[in-house]
Amino acid sequence: MRLALIALVLFPSHLMPLFADPALLLQGTASPVLHMQQVLLRHIQLRTVHIETDPAYHNGPMTYQAIPLAPLLQSVGIRETDSVQITSQDGFVSQFSGKELLQSTNTAQAFLAIESPDRPWPALATSSSATAGPFYLIWQHPKTTRIEQEKWPYQITRIEVKAPLSQRFPHILPDPILADTDPIRQGMQIFIQTCFACHTLNREGESHLGPDLNVPLSVTEYWTEPMLRRFIRDPQSVRSWSQGKMPPLDEKTLTPAQLDQLLAYLRHMVQRKK
Ligand code: HEC
Repeated sequence: MRLALIALVLFPSHLMPLFADPALLLQGTASPVLHMQQVLLRHIQLRTVHIETDPAYHNGPMTYQAIPLAPLLQSVGIRETDSVQITSQDGFVSQFSGKELLQSTNTAQAFLAIESPDRPWPALATSSSATAGPFYLIWQHPKTTRIEQEKWPYQITRIEVKAPLSQRFPHILPDPILADTDPIRQGMQIFIQTCFACHTLNREGESHLGPDLNVPLSVTEYWTEPMLRRFIRDPQSVRSWSQGKMPPLDEKTLTPAQLDQLLAYLRHMVQRKK
């Protein structure tokens, strides 16, 4: 009883699933809505979805019980022009446009997979029993548009509408005089897509899973470039650490040209420390 009371006082509602049925917090433009796992498992739109190449499970095939994401988002007023942030239990925070999450049918379509307590999914790694559940963002036809592994957040706790990144995190922006087509701007987009879910830059960002990449020193200042490239491709090939949480990023996830643009952005930001 005492523990439950403390929990109520200390923990915001999204952590309450630790003490009750797992729930997903949906925050649109009005007040937040909690969706309980058990209720979602009885959702009228629930269906079986087969995934051929599942990034959470070694790119193997998987089958899920899932709900199309669009109607869930629309039910809390999320629109195409919104910026949507998805937070995972381990602190991974991914950014989406409302447009990509709401698109459907012949282009990539997002589904929310829901784990059933009676039939849990396999463990993600051999070292722990944790699965991708209770809520996992999966895609049908992900090849038609570029939906890479970082767009498949698992162990989701909340989905929220946020102001655009440029407003919330102005100090991750490059010099405004740069042309729209400048590779440094492309590099920032790649940073947002592949690194920002875990790293801050100029202390801005939602996730603190990994260290800041620009301050007090930029990683481009204290790593040699070849080692930095190698680390980004395969962190464990540079230093062995069983607790290491940074995933390897192969050439499919981050092409050689994109890695060049990303490094150009990181080098550029050395002059824009905050
Ligand atoms: C899933 C989370 C995650 C993602 C995505 C991620 N990182 Fe990391 N990164 C980490 C963590 C955690 C560490 C600390 C070492 C570890 O746990 O492996 C780290 C460490 C690093 C380091 C070493 C810092 C130091 O000096 O010790 C660099 C450099 C780095 N990341 C760059 C990047 C870049 C660039 C990207 C995007 C291309 C990226 N990371 C994407 C989680 C992530």
